[in-house]
Amino acid sequence: MSDPSTRGAQSQAVSLEVQLGPLRLRNPVMVASGPFGFGEEYGRYFDLNRLGAVVVKSVTLEPTPGNPPPRVVATPAGMLNSIGWQNPGLEGFKRLHLPFLQGLEVPVIVNVAGYTVDEYARLAEALSALPNIAALEANISCPNVEHGGKAFGTDPATAAAVVRAMKNHTGLPVIPKLAPNVTSITEMALAVEEAGADLISLINAPLGMAVDTQTWRPRIARVVAGLSGPAIKPLALALTWQTVRAVKVPVIAMGGIGSAEDAAEFLLAGARAVAVGTALFADPLAPIRVIEGLEAYLRQHRLGRVTDLVGRLILEGEDWERDGARGPGVVDPDGGNHVRPLPPDLG
Ligand SMILES: Cc1cc2nc3c(=O)[nH]c(=O)nc-3n(C[C@H](O)[C@H](O)[C@H](O)COP(=O)(O)O)c2cc1C
Repeated sequence: MSDPSTRGAQSQAVSLEVQLGPLRLRNPVMVASGPFGFGEEYGRYFDLNRLGAVVVKSVTLEPTPGNPPPRVVATPAGMLNSIGWQNPGLEGFKRLHLPFLQGLEVPVIVNVAGYTVDEYARLAEALSALPNIAALEANISCPNVEHGGKAFGTDPATAAAVVRAMKNHTGLPVIPKLAPNVTSITEMALAVEEAGADLISLINAPLGMAVDTQTWRPRIARVVAGLSGPAIKPLALALTWQTVRAVKVPVIAMGGIGSAEDAAEFLLAGARAVAVGTALFADPLAPIRVIEGLEAYLRQHRLGRVTDLVGRLILEGEDWERDGARGPGVVDPDGGNHVRPLPPDLG
């Protein structure tokens, strides 16, 4: 017997559309840069036009071979990867992958990575000249060779410099992708917003390590690697929450998202869109399951739009029913995130 509270819900029309800064998406579910490659392989599993947006692997100016093996290892709740920036470089990307991506009907977001601020600017300029690219995501979890290899994403000033340089060389929306290995994510988020970021994405993979106790060697050739998958979901969620409270630009969240429930957690915390990364390896159809699961979730909760979830987290002492239909997590009509001040312990 069907639950009376959900009876009739099957046929209820729901909208998954989201406005993501300047981008209009048919749904808030993207793929994360890296695990999706440049998309061709996944096109065999599902119609890529069902995604909210496609985000491709980091592209560098020159071809990059990536790191030596072993560079991937499974962990109890995810994986470690040290792929590096393996990619064919800007010209190779244009020749090998862009024609396929240009055939898609959904926004294509190109992720770029550089060793200097100037490289980000040059990539931004070159990619802006190409048709059908919707936005540029900046992977700033990269060593800045001008500053002793310190990652751009761990210093607010250099992260801001990357965004500023890109904005000066492109009319496309720029999305800095924040690294989690920082003392204050809000400081980083405010710095890139101030520098002109149109959107913010987070999190890139935090550092992790595994040791083989039989050989006494690290399981990854480069010793430390990026940890991803369910293991980092609580970390990603906390950093997303802190970020949306601090900035006005919309936030794209990722880190361990593999189901509609995972996605709903991030949307409730205030993310405007989500990306599926590591989950693709276990199930290439994971993003489709997230999209379909979100539709079912909305119907089950008798909500008409996915935006009804965004930022609706109920805090101690608040009550959605009692506080009115818009709920406690009021979304700023001007396009910002939460407009309520931070609780004192988070401020
Ligand atoms: C194998 C692999 C390769 C990745 N490559 C990139 C990359 O090229 N550029 C980038 O910005 N992030 C890269 N990432 C990070 C993911 O985009 C994502 O931020 C992170 O894995 C957290 O999401 P997840 O837990 O859903 O995978 C990579 C992650 C994995 C697992």
